[in-house]
Formats: sequence, structure tokens, C-alpha cells
Amino acid sequence: MATASTEAVRLPPALQLPTALQGLAFLAARRSLVAALARRHGTMFTLDLPGFGRTVVIGDPELISDLFGTSRALLGRAHLNLGKVFGPGSMFNLNGEEHLNRRRLLAPPFHSAHVVQHRRIFEEEVLRESANWPEGQEFQTLPAMTRILLRGLLRSMLGADGPAVDELCALLPSAVSLGARIGLLPPIVRNDFGAWSPGARLHRYRSHFDAAVRALVVKARADPALAERTDVLAILLQTRYDNGESMPEAHIADELLGLLAAGYETTAATLSWAVERLRRRPQLLSRLTAEADAGGSEWRQATIWEVQRTRPVGDIVQRRAMTRIRLGDWVIPEGTTLMINIRLAHSSEDCFPGAEYFDPGRFIGTGRKPAGWIPYGGGFQRCIGATFANMAMDVTLRTLLQEFRLVPTDAPGERASDHGVVFAPSRGGLAVVHRRTVVVEKQPQTTPGQMGRS
Ligand code: HEM
Repeated sequence: MATASTEAVRLPPALQLPTALQGLAFLAARRSLVAALARRHGTMFTLDLPGFGRTVVIGDPELISDLFGTSRALLGRAHLNLGKVFGPGSMFNLNGEEHLNRRRLLAPPFHSAHVVQHRRIFEEEVLRESANWPEGQEFQTLPAMTRILLRGLLRSMLGADGPAVDELCALLPSAVSLGARIGLLPPIVRNDFGAWSPGARLHRYRSHFDAAVRALVVKARADPALAERTDVLAILLQTRYDNGESMPEAHIADELLGLLAAGYETTAATLSWAVERLRRRPQLLSRLTAEADAGGSEWRQATIWEVQRTRPVGDIVQRRAMTRIRLGDWVIPEGTTLMINIRLAHSSEDCFPGAEYFDPGRFIGTGRKPAGWIPYGGGFQRCIGATFANMAMDVTLRTLLQEFRLVPTDAPGERASDHGVVFAPSRGGLAVVHRRTVVVEKQPQTTPGQMGRS
């Protein structure tokens, strides 16, 4: 772990970026830029970025692991941009003790024992969405996965059903995409400058969301079965902080918005990448189908992890040094932004021998995943929805494997395109499917995880 330090500052090599590539331009180009810088200068370097200040980019798994093991007294959120968009009650807006208390309050519904209770919802949503999939015709899986995830999350987070799900499904994609773009810009952009200004549109979306949540809260409070409900809204209405206080309703709405926004595109894009990868790995596809028919899940889980390693939908996790810290050989001054690079960590040969190859077999028979596997970040701010996302991806993949034969392709892999919140397949995760006529077909057993460049 990193420790507080009084030593003289000792930063990793400082690199000068051309002016055209600073600030927001850096964010837009960061994926290829950081990879190119790391090839020349190694996995740790310092940049001075307007808007971000001094930024240390970290791609070394060991140092990342140290950082994730560091206490919240020394590290904090790098910025509150998303928190400002979701509202003061969202955990994205909290730091220190307040953040710790909120994480404690939210831990039970995100525990694996609780999360499995939502499996049925995702099975239903996959069957609903795929009922009209065209057979033998190419289509994009990203919009389909997005609908599955959004509807599934609205049911399991908000306890919404029927028209409320349809209403919020129509609202949220535009609201989240606008919020993500505004979140990167100076706060003044959130002001109301007339009906069609981004700030005014965001306020309208927000009022609409709040009204929908208020209606769900009224319904939940009147529900005689509230105590048995498993959705997060019902649980938050009933839980108390350690001091006995309940969460204000406005904060519940902020928190639910943050959970939805953080959860649906990330998980949907990962599933779309899974389809994109599996179509190019016919042997692995056969193996997963046979395994699903036999009721197994080991290779499916390994495939999900390998998709997340080779096609992470988010590429950075940020922290701020709250005091001067020592990290490995470096001494980093207070206020520095620490930009942990997920892609660099995932391409570490020490953690993942043959890292450039897509090989789910690397996770078979190993108890723990290497420290360099960080698609969900780590430490006290690690993604609270990780177990939930894994459940949703597992159920979705299993159901699709049981229902459909995915037609392999030898087309070049899809590139990653920046969708604002996530990196998703550039052509939408194209698929061609045929419905399996017999519920459980016999599939040939094939050799483990066919290797191929990722
Ligand atoms: C494959 C899907 C997902 C990926 C790759 C992902 C990734 C991440 C990452 C990288 C972070 C930042 C962690 C850090 O700073 O160390 C994060 C935070 C977060 N995620 Fe996820 N996420 C996914 C799904 C979900 C889902 C399904 C939910 C909720 C239902 C969710 C809710 C959150 C929340 C609330 C945070 C903020 C945590 C905090 O600041 O304490 N995520 N996620």
C-alpha cells in the first residue's frame, strides 16, 4: 500500500504533450495515446494536463495493487463531476466517512447471496428481447443488450414494472448520454440557458426521473409486502445508517440514478464484446454451448473474465492524493491526480503471459485472478455492482447459448469505439443467429479455449 511521506517529491518521468492533445483532447485520444506513451516510456509517467493538473499515469499492476490497498485517509475521489450530475445524494458525490457509510448501507443488496435473487429477471428480459431476433440476418447486439440491461436494472434496482419500465427505458439513454458529456465540461454548462440548452434539457430529464421515482416510492410505501421485496429501492427505504437515520428520499433518487447510469451501458457493452469475440472463436463457442446444456459455467465465467481483460469497457480509474504519498520508489505530492490505466494493467505479461492472446483457459483451474485484472477498479471505491454485473452477464450469455446458435465469422474483429461512457464494439457487436430447435442439442466437445490474437 502507499504510505504518507515527508520525503522530497520524486515523480515518474514528466512527458510533454503537444498543446492540441491536452485537456479534453487528451481524454478523447487517451486510449491510443497512453498505449503509445507506455511503449516508449514504460508503464508510469507524469503529464501536466489543463483541467486535470499534474497527473501520474500508472499501468504497473504491482503499484496499482498498492494504490488499491491504500486507505481513504490518503486517497480520495479525483473529481466530483459525475457526482454533480447525479446529485448530492449519489455515492459518486461522496468522499471519506460519508462515502464509507453509504457503501456500508448499500452493501447488503449487492452481496452475492442477494444478487442471485435477480437471476430470473434477467432470464425473462433476455427471452423477451430475443423473441423477435431475425434468423440468418446480421444485426447489432449492442442495442439489444442495452435494453436487456436497462430493463433488468430498472426492475431489480427500482422494483419498477409495466409502464414505469417502458417510461424510464425511453428516458434514461438520452439523459445518461447528455449527463456523461456535460459531466466532463465546466459546471457552468449545467446552468439553464434557455429551453434547448444542455443544462435545461438535463434539468427536464431529471425532473421526469424524480417524478417516476417518487411514484415508485409512494407505491412501495403502500406495499404490504415491502419487507420481502428484493429491489434496491425497497431496501433503501427500510435501512438505517448506524446512527439510526434513514436515507432522505431525494438522496435515494440520486443514488438510484447513479447506479443505473453506472450499470447498464458497462454491462451491455461487455456482453456485446462477448458476442463479438465468441463469433471469432467457434471452438470455444461450441464448448460453451455444450457446457450450458450440461448445466456448467466454468468456461463461461472464464470467458467473461477474459472478455473483460482484453476488451475493458472503461480504461481509467482515478484517485487524488490527499497528502504527499510514497508509492513504490516515487513520492507523489498532495493534490496529484492518479490515473490508473486498466488497459496497461491488463496487458501485463507478468500477470497474463501471452497477454495479447484471447485465452479464457488462463482462468481455468486458478483460484484467484491476478492483481492486474481490474475491470472493476479496486480498493474502497471498487465497483459496488461487480457481482451484480457478473450475474447479469452470466445469465444473459447462458440463456442466449441455450436458445440460439451464434454463426461464427472470419470478419476482422470490431474496433473499440468511444460511446462517451464506455468503449463498445464499433459495429455494435454484429451477430447472426439461428434459433436452436431442440432445447438441448448435443454439441461436439472441443479442445480448451481456442487461442487467437485478441
Ligand atoms: C461490466 C460491468 C461494469 C464495469 C466494467 C464497471 C466498472 C466500474 C469501475 C471501473 C468503477 C470505478 C471503480 C474505482 O474507482 O475503483 C465503477 C464504479 C461504480 N460502479 Fe460499476 N461497473 C460495471 C457494472 C456496474 C453495475 C451493474 C452497477 C450497479 C448496478 C455499478 C455501479 C457502480 C457504482 C455505484 C460505482 C461507484 C462506486 C464508488 O464510487 O464507491 N457498476 N464501476
